[in-house]
Amino acid sequence: MPGLTADLFTDDALQQPPGKKRVGEQSYVLKGYALPWVERLLPALRQVLAQSPFRQMVTPGGFTMSAALSSCGALGWTTDRTGYRYTAIDPNSQQPWPALPETLRQLAVMAALEAGFDDFEPDACLINRYVPGAKMSLHQDKNEQCYTAPVVSVSLGLPAVFLFGGHTRSDKPQKISLLHGDVVVWGGVDRLRFHGVLPIKEGVHPQMGSQRINLTFRMAG
Ligand code: SIN
Ligand code: FE2
Repeated sequence: MPGLTADLFTDDALQQPPGKKRVGEQSYVLKGYALPWVERLLPALRQVLAQSPFRQMVTPGGFTMSAALSSCGALGWTTDRTGYRYTAIDPNSQQPWPALPETLRQLAVMAALEAGFDDFEPDACLINRYVPGAKMSLHQDKNEQCYTAPVVSVSLGLPAVFLFGGHTRSDKPQKISLLHGDVVVWGGVDRLRFHGVLPIKEGVHPQMGSQRINLTFRMAG
């Protein structure tokens, strides 16, 4: 079957190191990329969350999001009845969001580089906490000032099915399994692709317990 052989050898997956999966023209899943960072990352995350704890936010349409949110970095993403936006102040504490810990920044910069994006200097890290049953509906990340920088997404804890769609809501999304330590980077022509997360299944992660935590780094300002 000559056709099959030709297809196999032009398959991009074969030209990438194992663990680096191309899922779009400028999008990659870096399997287990964050694993060597987890031990340094968790205490930093704990400090951030002591200052700005998780809270459930309301969408402009009046729905309470099933994922609980927090942020660190100069800008934090928030939503309430008046809309989605980035703010420098945590609306709960009325204080600036906690600073972006250096470990988190370095991980995001290196993952972006691995996916072909240099000069990534994140000023916003959104922290999503999903308990079993929580999900994230398909959406585009488009509250940022410019779209030249990628989105870097780090998954911790319980597994998830990440939906990676196209440029319109009706494009059928790819279903991508994300495990503890996996990193997804999408940018360039893929920057505005729809994405979401299916409801998290019941389970207990040995290190993280019964939850999934996702960190998304962006250049927002
Ligand atoms: C997001 O799009 O903000 C979160 C994605 C995820 O939890 O994997
Ligand atoms: Fe998003």
